[in-house]
Amino acid sequence: SMPAWNWLPPRGTEPGRAPTMAAMSAALPAVLTIDGPSGSGKGTISRAVAEQLGWHFLDSGALYRAVGLAASWSDLDLTDGDAVARIAETTEVRFVDRPGDDPQVYVNGVEASAELRTETCGATASAIAAIPAVRAALVEKQRSFRRPPGLVADGRDMGTVIFADAPYKVFLTASAEERAERRYKQLKQKGMDVTLAALLREILARDARDAQRPVAPLKPAPDAVLIDTSGTPIETVVARVLALVRTHPAPVRA
Ligand code: C5P
Repeated sequence: SMPAWNWLPPRGTEPGRAPTMAAMSAALPAVLTIDGPSGSGKGTISRAVAEQLGWHFLDSGALYRAVGLAASWSDLDLTDGDAVARIAETTEVRFVDRPGDDPQVYVNGVEASAELRTETCGATASAIAAIPAVRAALVEKQRSFRRPPGLVADGRDMGTVIFADAPYKVFLTASAEERAERRYKQLKQKGMDVTLAALLREILARDARDAQRPVAPLKPAPDAVLIDTSGTPIETVVARVLALVRTHPAPVRA
């Protein structure tokens, strides 16, 4: 059942009164943004937190991966910004929940869950994510995931750009070595043929690209809570993030 507060007209939005910024922001469902580099445990942690809060979940990286995949399917030049932006505008991405597993992802109706997780797809996603028109094409799509009773949004610029007004923001970090090891275990488990050294190189290259791009670079929002997950069990981080949401009422923004 939905908490009643989602349905009460927020103060400052009564008829005949211009709503204040704070009131408009309070009228929107809550968002918890979880940003950080790849391999920081973001995906697993965000999903677990969303599940325990009973909130919706946005894996924004999957959208960039899907656009990269659709672009490679249509065999176009990935450096042609306008062409890739058109792909971003028209690619249909559908998430189908699977209990106890990552959701299935359909790209233009094609089941692509496994292909989307490959390092090749991650590298393509990172390349096309640097194109401003591609990012612009995905803004409204991402914001449409904000529905009652709340949203956990996982990505790179959730707290800085897409949901800059989110009441809860977390930025997860971990050493590059630890992130490479986590990716290594994940990919091995899925039967993929990878080496630790190659993964570490790819992670460092992707970090550098994501942090240095002029549009929406990877960086913590000024109001994000920084959590270093190195050497910390996933459950401990999940508990810390849940405590953040449960013990702190959404701050009122003036
Ligand atoms: O999180 P994931 O590894 O699936 O993201 C793939 C790539 O998509 C990242 O390396 C990043 O370049 C890009 N991305 C982004 N903004 C987001 C999410 C992902 O630029 N919000």
